[in-house]
Amino acid sequence: MKILIATQKPFAPVAVNGIRKIAEEAGHEVALLEKYPGEAELCAAVGDVNALIIRSDKVTPAVLDAAPELKIIVRAGAGYDNVDLDAATAHGVVVMNTPGQNSNAVAELVIAMMIYMYRNQFTPAAGNEIMGKTLGVQAFGNVGRLVGKKAEALGMKVKAIDPFLSEDKIREGGAEPAGSLEELYSTCDFVSVHIPATPQTIKSIGYDLISKMPKGAVLVNAARKEVIDEEGLMKALTEREDLKYITDLMPDNYDLLKEKFGLRVFATPKKMGAQTKEANINAGLAAARQIVDFFATGSRRFQVNK
Ligand code: 3PG
Repeated sequence: MKILIATQKPFAPVAVNGIRKIAEEAGHEVALLEKYPGEAELCAAVGDVNALIIRSDKVTPAVLDAAPELKIIVRAGAGYDNVDLDAATAHGVVVMNTPGQNSNAVAELVIAMMIYMYRNQFTPAAGNEIMGKTLGVQAFGNVGRLVGKKAEALGMKVKAIDPFLSEDKIREGGAEPAGSLEELYSTCDFVSVHIPATPQTIKSIGYDLISKMPKGAVLVNAARKEVIDEEGLMKALTEREDLKYITDLMPDNYDLLKEKFGLRVFATPKKMGAQTKEANINAGLAAARQIVDFFATGSRRFQVNK
């Protein structure tokens, strides 16, 4: 079978070599398409491909139409909002993710972003320490739990909320359950967002929640750009000169945010939460193994378009 690794943001070479080794030892062929400009180049590359490994690369109906031999797509990572699941299902293509494989990298970045913002983006003005402060974790999945653990180790109190977890499960994960989103936002010095982008969550974090945050609070977003209502964020930051926003997902209105709020906002130039060699190896090799298993045994573990 032919496996294409299509990554606009490439894996570290060590991860590509690992994927190649696993695939070739199982008798498959590997092709590589990196840093490609967009949909047209991906369509041109998938004509004879049986399996696709991607990151945040967009798999649109046009890509699926151009890939008549495609059987499986593995998103090497957690979020799969970049894949048109309905179109994949209609084409008979199995879609999987690799849950948990890049979570530690994202969680480490969240902690770094919290400190970076509390220290005024490493400028000389006196900052604050995170020890003794309260972190609210919105969605207590693989990343959220790790962020909570690391924050606790640094002396923070951790609260969490998750629509899919009982209060007992949240306590087992080491956090105090928040009774509502309003409570989380109004009682935490930091809120770190870990929800996926779905029709229910898109623009769900806006003025009403952000303006409830306590004095000097920081909103941290290493999840998805789309879950923030940027107009509501702008309004909250305008009314409350003490609030701050730091994100790993470049907002659409970032130039305006920077112009208006300066050091109170920061966005990484390119999403880098999962961009470590370790995460690339973990997620990339897991993707390769899932594809090898799928062709060898029909295993559909981690399928997301069921
Ligand atoms: C994920 O959903 O796994 C993260 O957002 C990482 O995305 P990336 O592979 O594009 O860096």
